[in-house]
Amino acid sequence: MRPAERARRGPRQRVSGRLARPVTLEVRVARSSIPRVFAVLIGDALAVTDEISLEWRGPATDDEIIDLVESNGGSSTVGWWDQIRPYSLGWVTARTPDGMLVGFVNVAWDGGDHAFLLDTKTRPSHQHTGIGTELVRAAVTHARAAGCEWLHVDYQPELAAFYLDACGFESTEAGLINLRAV
Ligand SMILES: CC(C)(COP(=O)(O)OP(=O)(O)OC[C@H]1O[C@@H](n2cnc3c(N)ncnc32)[C@H](O)[C@@H]1OP(=O)(O)O)[C@@H](O)C(=O)NCCC(=O)NCCS
Repeated sequence: MRPAERARRGPRQRVSGRLARPVTLEVRVARSSIPRVFAVLIGDALAVTDEISLEWRGPATDDEIIDLVESNGGSSTVGWWDQIRPYSLGWVTARTPDGMLVGFVNVAWDGGDHAFLLDTKTRPSHQHTGIGTELVRAAVTHARAAGCEWLHVDYQPELAAFYLDACGFESTEAGLINLRAV
């Protein structure tokens, strides 16, 4: 099955709570009033507790993405997500039980072996509860399931603790040209 087909046919995963045959159980200690994410990895599916639900290719409106970006002090153009989405292998949303979007990451794709992690974001009110790490973990799982061999990311040096230590990326040399600056 071609990677695109695999990606399309992958089950939509909105899972929570009780699941059979957990393979890995990750438990973290709460440091604030917001519970940390408790995750159970079952094959390709990532289950979280009732507090936060992760979903691959779950619905997310342009307005919600803009709100999440702006909650982090960023600026976003109306229509940005509607423009980006057709070029995405998939994305992961994290929502509270009442549906608020508190986390997001997008996975762009070259149509073959390479996928690119973009726009990882957690709402400031929910940061440092493990959501970012679980968003990336779900992206890794689904990029692998789509047949990709490599997942790339770039980031500011201060985020090394997040991407390298928490998410498991390896540091590598990479190049970049700002095409609007040359
Ligand atoms: C980076 C970001 C997505 C992390 O989300 P998160 O949900 O808070 O991440 P986690 O709770 O899974 O963090 C796990 C660990 O990664 C590290 N980490 C998380 N955020 C970090 C940050 N901003 N700077 C440095 N290390 C960070 C910490 O070691 C953290 O463990 P701790 O909570 O015990 O301190 C979030 O800070 C964010 O949305 N930032 C603004 C947008 C941004 O810069 N995105 C990255 C684009 S490349």
